[in-house]
Amino acid sequence: MIKIRDLYKRFKHVKVLQGLDLDIREGETLVILGPSGVGKSILLKHIIGLTKPDRGSVEVNGVNLTELSGPKLLHAVKQMGMLFQGSALFDSMTIAENTGFYLTEHSTKKTSKRALKEEIRSRVDDALKMVGLDGTQDKMPSELSGGMRKRAGLARLIVYRPEILLYDEPTTGLDPITSMQINELIVKTQKELKATTVVVTHDITSALHIGDRLALLRDGKIAHIGDPETFIKFDDPIIEFLRRQ
Ligand SMILES: Nc1ncnc2c1ncn2[C@@H]1O[C@H](COP(=O)(O)OP(=O)(O)OP(=O)(O)O)[C@@H](O)[C@H]1O
Ligand SMILES: [Mg+2]
Repeated sequence: MIKIRDLYKRFKHVKVLQGLDLDIREGETLVILGPSGVGKSILLKHIIGLTKPDRGSVEVNGVNLTELSGPKLLHAVKQMGMLFQGSALFDSMTIAENTGFYLTEHSTKKTSKRALKEEIRSRVDDALKMVGLDGTQDKMPSELSGGMRKRAGLARLIVYRPEILLYDEPTTGLDPITSMQINELIVKTQKELKATTVVVTHDITSALHIGDRLALLRDGKIAHIGDPETFIKFDDPIIEFLRRQ
């Protein structure tokens, strides 16, 4: 359960979040919609503890992240994974190294280095297969298309098996078929891990397909929230616009 209360964030004169309240339920898929620049990415960064608010709290399973820093914060957000807007692969690492990154970084197992390496390799291979990128293990990110890079970013998340998954625009810039495949992977991953999932998107078709609930971010707050059927009927110019997409 993620509980966000009275969250405020501004950058110089730009007021981004203005008293935002939001509850994200255990195991649900919540989709956040809203116009460009409204603060969707910033909201996700608050949820994963990358950004500190000016005021307000973000509570994850009873722990208020805004009061933590350093190793305590890292520990508190360890069960979360985020797919960043633009996939954010490390350019100097191969696809296999990128995919296994969190596993290598966060490994606490007391096995031999070789056994750990083999286990990671096999989990990386499985994740890459799952996103349809088998055979790209030794390629560099620059050798992949934008859609393939996005899928590699998704593999990196899946392989880590976090309890809370945050996706920032997972389908933007992809063709409709690849988008559908990514959506199916998001749903499949959520089911498999029973993970609490938050997806930011511009794509209403994707939102209706994957969301248990949809939320509209506007004027620094959640303006509307509800299940897909309820959401699509809210009398709101932005939802009206989305409906016509
Ligand atoms: N580190 C930063 N420094 C200054 N301003 C920032 C910073 N990060 C975000 N902003 C500003 O905060 C606002 C919200 O940004 P954010 O990236 O959250 O928008 P968004 O809703 O994700 O938009 P998009 O749909 O285009 O991705 C924007 O006006 C942006 O310029
Ligand atoms: Mg964004």
